[in-house]
Amino acid sequence: MLTVALPKGRLMDKALELFDRAKIIETTNYGESRKLIIEDNKADLRYILAKPTDVPTYVEYGVADIGIVGKDVLKENKRAVYELLDLGIGKCQMIVAVKSGSGFNKVQELGFSAKVASKYPNCTTEYFRSHGIQAEIIKLNGSIELAPIVGLADAIVDITETGRTIAENGLEIIAEVFPISARLIANQVSYKIHYHSLREMVKALEEVI
Ligand code: PRP
Repeated sequence: MLTVALPKGRLMDKALELFDRAKIIETTNYGESRKLIIEDNKADLRYILAKPTDVPTYVEYGVADIGIVGKDVLKENKRAVYELLDLGIGKCQMIVAVKSGSGFNKVQELGFSAKVASKYPNCTTEYFRSHGIQAEIIKLNGSIELAPIVGLADAIVDITETGRTIAENGLEIIAEVFPISARLIANQVSYKIHYHSLREMVKALEEVI
């Protein structure tokens, strides 16, 4: 039985739907259950339902053989896992945004004293450094769009999918940092032990992506 770390939240349903279309599983109906471990004996899979940012940790330590996680989390956490496949779901963008009318039109204009709020301090530091700016990073855990509105930061680095949160809070995007989509990842030892079944799984997924 293979153990799969799934990200609780919006990506989980899309991931199960994809597994269903690839005929890896027969049901996506895990209902209202609050269980954090689910066994699918027919498919010979066991799911661990984890917080998205923790998925690579479970996979790196081998508690899960494989996992599904956004590229944003992989870039931020840099865990020693194999990235097997771009699943083409959960597409969004990592962006830099400022308050509309702030006068900042590009990141270079933010300058050295810039304060940047983000859930992604590593991605933010790396991006600003690549533009020659050593910004002050303010780590937040959610509702990042609040930061420029209340004067906590000059800019934010965050993900956007539909653009609604940015628009409805009077912000504007001044740069795109990188595109994001969900990835299938594997533990490095599990990948060798279960090589054939994992390659078959990747092949089945590739056919429906
Ligand atoms: C994410 C992200 C934005 C929002 C963007 O937050 O941090 O706030 O979604 O989506 P949109 O472009 O479709 O409006 P999430 O819902 O994960 O919650 P959080 O603010 O608690 O991080």
